Parts: sequence; structure tokens; C-alpha cells
Amino acid sequence: MPALKDLMLLLLLPLAFLALQASLCHGACVEVDSDTEAEVDSGFKLGCISCKRRGEVSAEAYVEWEFKPFNDSEPIPIYRYVDVENKEFLDSTLGFENRLEWRGSNNTKDLQDGSIYIHNVTFNDSGTYICTFYRTLKYNNYNFQTNRTKNIFLTVVPKLTRGLASILSEVMMYASIIGLQLWLVVEMIYCYRKIAAAGEEALRESAAEYLAIASESKDNCAGEQVAE
Ligand SMILES: *[C@@H]1O[C@H](CO)[C@@H](O)[C@H](O)[C@H]1NC(C)=O
Ligand SMILES: *[C@@H]1O[C@H](CO)[C@@H](O)[C@H](O)[C@H]1NC(C)=O
Ligand SMILES: *[C@@H]1O[C@H](CO)[C@@H](O)[C@H](O)[C@H]1NC(C)=O
Ligand SMILES: *[C@@H]1O[C@H](CO)[C@@H](O)[C@H](O)[C@H]1NC(C)=O
Ligand SMILES: *[C@@H]1O[C@H](CO)[C@@H](O)[C@H](O)[C@H]1NC(C)=O
Repeated sequence: MPALKDLMLLLLLPLAFLALQASLCHGACVEVDSDTEAEVDSGFKLGCISCKRRGEVSAEAYVEWEFKPFNDSEPIPIYRYVDVENKEFLDSTLGFENRLEWRGSNNTKDLQDGSIYIHNVTFNDSGTYICTFYRTLKYNNYNFQTNRTKNIFLTVVPKLTRGLASILSEVMMYASIIGLQLWLVVEMIYCYRKIAAAGEEALRESAAEYLAIASESKDNCAGEQVAE
């Protein structure tokens, strides 16, 4: 019965959503890609998340950011973050010192979020940002070093515009949600009617049957009476 399946889905969806939210709230690490388009003069978060593959192993990590203004230029180290007391700007020519802010993991040496925030973005900030996690996994008897690098190609634009595809997909999403709900309501009414009709039918049938039996037995009685 399709209506039952829909109903189940409708009941299960919020549950799935809750489960997802719970896992996010409990600090489950999810590697979200950074945005790559910044608007000039506004702020921009350069996201960089590197999840530990083995959650149960304790680790220490620090993050280094480099910047390449052009594809063929040498990467310029700009920022290193170890912990709150141990962070430094590695370059003084690009003007990041008073514009750059840590937005990554706090209160831990086991960094998994190495995001930074740039205030007052300029067109000169376009380019490739390279974020590297230097992570030491601490096993009982030995340490294991892993390094992970991510590249973010940032474009600075005069004004952020939403792509047509993004607008269209949002419209489609609402249309399909409303469509599904209408369909569900229609389906429920249809099923309700069908069940009600079936009930009436059954009632009528059983009444007819009862009458038939009654009259038959009356006939029989009459027959027997005649025979007697
Ligand atoms: C730089 O390199 C990236 C990746 O190789 C490429 O997508 C991008 O178009 C290049 N940018 C320029 C300005 O050449
Ligand atoms: C960003 O620009 C605004 C206005 O131009 C200025 O007031 C503010 O101090 C700037 N912030 C930083 C961190 O440079
Ligand atoms: C870390 O703290 C800073 C400043 O309070 C905050 O802006 C940032 O969002 C925090 N990072 C995370 C991952 O919550
Ligand atoms: C951008 O770079 C050019 C060339 O290096 C420099 O002349 C200009 O002042 C820079 N603009 C900003 C807003 O930093
Ligand atoms: C990770 O980087 C550190 C520091 O540059 C280096 O000593 C180490 O060999 C690197 N480890 C791997 C597995 O690349």
C-alpha cells in the first residue's frame, strides 16, 4: 500500500534528521569543502577540515597556511597555528597580519578544523591557499606522522551573485516538498474513502446474508410445519 510507505517515510525523515544533528552536535568530524568565492571588502572564511581517520587514537596537530597569488608563484607561508598561545604570522608583505583570524578548533591540541577568517577581502587576496595539517598520531609505543594538504582556489568578485542553478534547485526543492505533501493528502483521503466504502459494502452484504438466512430458515420452518 503506497500510503503506508509514505507515512513511514514521513515519520522516519525527522528521525534521520535528528540523528544527523546529534552526530554533528557531538563533534563528529565532517570534511566540508571551503567556499571559493569571496566578495570584496567583506569577510571570508577559508575552511579547511582534516578529520582524524582513527577517532580513538589521540593526536596532536598544527596547521600551516600558505598563499600563492598566481598559479606559478612559489607558495608564501602566511600563518601557523599550534594553539592559542602559539600562533604566528609568517609574512609581513601581504597585509594579512591585522586581517586574519583563527576560526578552527579551540581548546585542543588535536586540531581537526584549521579554518581561518579574512577580514576586508581585497582583490589581491585572489589566488591559491594551501592548508597543511601536520599531525602526529600517538600510539602506545610509537608516534606516527601524517601530513595532509588541501588547496583552495579563491576568487574575489565585486558582488556575490547566486548562480541560476542554485536558485532553480531551491525552487525545485520547495515544489517537490509541496507536491509530495499534496499527493500524500490525496492518497490518504482516497484510502479513507476506500476503506469506508468497503466497510459499508461489507455491512450491506452481511445484512443481506442475514436476511437470506432468516428467510430461508423461515421457509424451512414453514416446510417442516407443512410436513408435520
Ligand atoms: C590555476 O590552477 C588551477 C588548478 O590547476 C586551475 O583550475 C586554475 O584555472 C588556474 N588558474 C589560472 C589563473 O591559471
Ligand atoms: C575593515 O574595513 C572597515 C571599513 O573600511 C574598517 O572600519 C575596519 O577597521 C576594517 N577592519 C579591518 C580588520 O581591517
Ligand atoms: C574558536 O573560537 C573563535 C573565537 O571565539 C570562534 O570565532 C571560532 O568559531 C571557534 N571555532 C570553532 C570551531 O568553534
Ligand atoms: C594590490 O596589489 C597591487 C600590486 O602589488 C598594489 O599596488 C595594491 O596597492 C594592492 N591593493 C591592495 C588593496 O592591497
Ligand atoms: C610531515 O611534515 C614534517 C615537517 O615538515 C616532516 O618532518 C615529515 O617527514 C612529514 N611526514 C610525512 C609522512 O610526509
